[in-house]
Amino acid sequence: MNSNNSNSIESVLQEQRVFPPSDNFSSKSRISSFSKYLEMSEMAKSDPNKFWGDAAREELHWFKSFNKVLDWSNPPFAKWFDGGKTNISFNCLDRHLNSSTADKVALIWEGEPGDKKKYTYKQLHKEVCKAANALKSIGIGKGDLVALYMPMVPEAAIAMLACARIGAPHSVVFGGFSSEALRDRLINGEAKAIITADGGFRKDKVIPLKDAVDQALGGGACPKVESVLVVQRTKKNIAMDDGRDYWWHEIVDSQADDCLPEQMDSEDCLFVLYTSGSTGKPKGVVHSTAGYNLWSHLTFKWIFDIRENDVYWCTADVGWITGHSYIVYGPLSNGATTVMYEGVPRPSNPGAFWDVIQKHKISIFYTAPTAIRAFMKAGNKIPNQYDLSSLRLLGTVGEPINPEAWIWYRDVIGGGRCPIVDTWWQTETGGVMISPLPGATPTKPGSATFPLPGIEADVVNSDGDSVANNEGGYLVVKRPWPGMMRNVYGDEKRFRESYWEYLKPSDNSYMYFAGDGARRDEDGYFWVMGRVDDVINVSGHRLGTMEIESALVSHELISEAAVVGRPDDLKGESIVAFVTLRTGAEANENIEAQLKKHVVNEIGPIAKPDEFKFTDSLPKTRSGKIMRRILRALASGDEISGDTSTLEDRSVLDKLRS
Ligand code: WTA
Repeated sequence: MNSNNSNSIESVLQEQRVFPPSDNFSSKSRISSFSKYLEMSEMAKSDPNKFWGDAAREELHWFKSFNKVLDWSNPPFAKWFDGGKTNISFNCLDRHLNSSTADKVALIWEGEPGDKKKYTYKQLHKEVCKAANALKSIGIGKGDLVALYMPMVPEAAIAMLACARIGAPHSVVFGGFSSEALRDRLINGEAKAIITADGGFRKDKVIPLKDAVDQALGGGACPKVESVLVVQRTKKNIAMDDGRDYWWHEIVDSQADDCLPEQMDSEDCLFVLYTSGSTGKPKGVVHSTAGYNLWSHLTFKWIFDIRENDVYWCTADVGWITGHSYIVYGPLSNGATTVMYEGVPRPSNPGAFWDVIQKHKISIFYTAPTAIRAFMKAGNKIPNQYDLSSLRLLGTVGEPINPEAWIWYRDVIGGGRCPIVDTWWQTETGGVMISPLPGATPTKPGSATFPLPGIEADVVNSDGDSVANNEGGYLVVKRPWPGMMRNVYGDEKRFRESYWEYLKPSDNSYMYFAGDGARRDEDGYFWVMGRVDDVINVSGHRLGTMEIESALVSHELISEAAVVGRPDDLKGESIVAFVTLRTGAEANENIEAQLKKHVVNEIGPIAKPDEFKFTDSLPKTRSGKIMRRILRALASGDEISGDTSTLEDRSVLDKLRS
């Protein structure tokens, strides 16, 4: 098994410190001791149907109750809460309107230029109803897929909830993806409408989202798309296509502010979200209505131990699963106050995050290790200028966190008093799977600690057998859970093969394989070591190396490309591309710049290689497979270990080394 993050593995292997939750925190929390956590886990294990059934009945509103908790008769296709009818927009909004929560602030938004908006639950409900009615008015109904390509504005959350309200699955495409990447997703998902904006602000620049939509739709590439709804954000001039394009404010503002939610079957698709896998094509991860609602709701409640007066902020973008589950659905389903910020720390405002925390008195803060490492590098001076005393709980997500960054986060941002929840999960899992419970779990810096109640995680070998403590293996989940993905959109075969048939347990049982390597220590703590497939994690963004390779070889000067990750102190991993040029082409700086630009056009800036290595040929096996293991070692300057006898041409190695 290979892992891309050898540096972080080294450092986590040496980590010995343990931080028990403080009595002060525990005494006020919902799950207040480790024995309580164990008790819940035991209950879930001994009678999962009762555990999940009770949770679904207690935590969600049902128009019609379900007949069966889990139907696993046709694995790996699960049905949760079959026969039930519910609506996640009802659970996030309407059900709070009969209590004091109605006038509580649901969403606080701040734009990068500093403009602000607040919505109470009552107001958000009205806005969502209006948007739902507007969607209906342009012919969108139950089952029609709506793509969102949005900046971080309140309308992004409103649009998601409006789609959910009328039963139209949404597919949010991260605003940093290029028009080409957007087009692929529109075609694959057969989107009928797009919701976008005239642009968004990022790092003091305008991102021209509507132009990208126009390019994606150009030349009739997406014949299924009938309409484009455009939020006015930047007031920059954009082209509007009569009969296809509508301004959000023109068709939404005038709608009635009430709209009955569609009564959805538990298993109706709520959304499709594309993520990278080990082939060149991103996969559309399908999530269902009730199971996802329950899992994002419960995990949010457990992990953030949410309280009436909390102001909660997750810095993710709604274009990623973290934004779906922990900016929009989890917090709102719990009646919490969630903050959405359009900006990021930037040269003109390096303390942007701390400023938001101070201004809005954030009590729970959830961000990515890559951001923490960048702050740590910039030093304590900037955060020390802000009042961060409102914080009571900190979280991280997206990649392994190195213990040094964990300790810095705890001391400098959390003032030594806030527990840290290091949450391991994926687009596919819908919500967090392995994480400390802040009032119950003694934490070890760099470990996501233990699976949540009801999650049967393990570390196994390729036969599916558990490995010994401290031995590396594949991270798996051995029992279905409500938030699990239901399918790869339009590709059942890929769903089976990527997640359920990769490992071959001798008893033919089904285990979900996540794509990550992990080990468990002598105390049972999980240490996630990074991807074991051809997926790399750059600044918490998941990218398929094959996706970047396909982008590169689509350039006229490239004949072959192999992309690998290299451990990087700030970004987790950086992208190194080994390329062979077509005959006659010459490697020079100009080519590098051209290739970078090309990848940005094909995928987006997040996929831009950090380094190019030009070579006459790539190391391959006799059957023609590129030996990435060798390239990874070369990229990181490591010794080439392991068997090289299958190399077709050994001289390639010497050339690459020199
Ligand atoms: C990685 C993001 C270590 C992992 C929610 C996983 C992590 C991939 C952690 C999913 C963590 C996420 N510790 N690694 N706490 N959280 N990962 O789908 O490799 O964008 O498979 O979901 O991120 O990325 P995705």
